[in-house]
Amino acid sequence: MLIKSVEFVKSSSKWQECPEANLPEYAFIGRSNVGKSSLINAMMDRKDFAKTSQTPGKTQLINHFLVNETWYLTDLPGYGYAKVSKTLRKSFEKLITNYILNRNNLVNLFVLVDIRHAPQKIDIEFMQWCGESGIPFSIIFTKADKLKPKAIENHVKAYHDELLQFWEELPQSYITSAEKKEGGDAILDFIGETNIILEKNKVKF
Ligand code: GTP
Ligand code: MG
Repeated sequence: MLIKSVEFVKSSSKWQECPEANLPEYAFIGRSNVGKSSLINAMMDRKDFAKTSQTPGKTQLINHFLVNETWYLTDLPGYGYAKVSKTLRKSFEKLITNYILNRNNLVNLFVLVDIRHAPQKIDIEFMQWCGESGIPFSIIFTKADKLKPKAIENHVKAYHDELLQFWEELPQSYITSAEKKEGGDAILDFIGETNIILEKNKVKF
């Protein structure tokens, strides 16, 4: 998919404040510092459009971007950030879960995981929660530039083996590097194809 236009729409602190849910929406979620905002910038070919930081917890609001005037790309706050107070962490979790459960135009959630790490309990639990809640999701492995091809293969396999303990079928997964601007095109193609199917089926939100 060609990116013809992308505009920042708004930041919201509640799902009720988000832009009208009248277009297909795709959201990026994952642990703090996993690279959500960086990958959004790489895919949109914009520098620091979605704010990034080396310090976890940079994105604290729900950020909506309108792409090609036809669909929303949403940058969500990270979950599981240990260094904020328990109360604040709970309030982020509530913001995220309320958004996911109530956003009627949410077509697919992309769960980002850092390819360098072994499967993390918090990510697996989050994916299980998505499954139980009937939320369609895909996995995006981030920071692939940090590993050699063989290690990438091993880490993806370890993740898949872990998931197959709970799931019969694996979700779609993508391997990406925001640093090298790799892997984003496959995600954009998936979004483009899904939008065409929605249009053909005259799905209205
Ligand atoms: P929060 O908003 O805090 O939840 O974080 P985030 O998931 O949006 O992460 P962000 O994009 O801000 O990136 C966190 C750090 O990881 C930054 O220092 C980025 O430069 C770095 N980073 C992100 N993607 C990549 C990547 O593909 N490769 C490498 N090497 N570093 C990356
Ligand atoms: Mg961010």
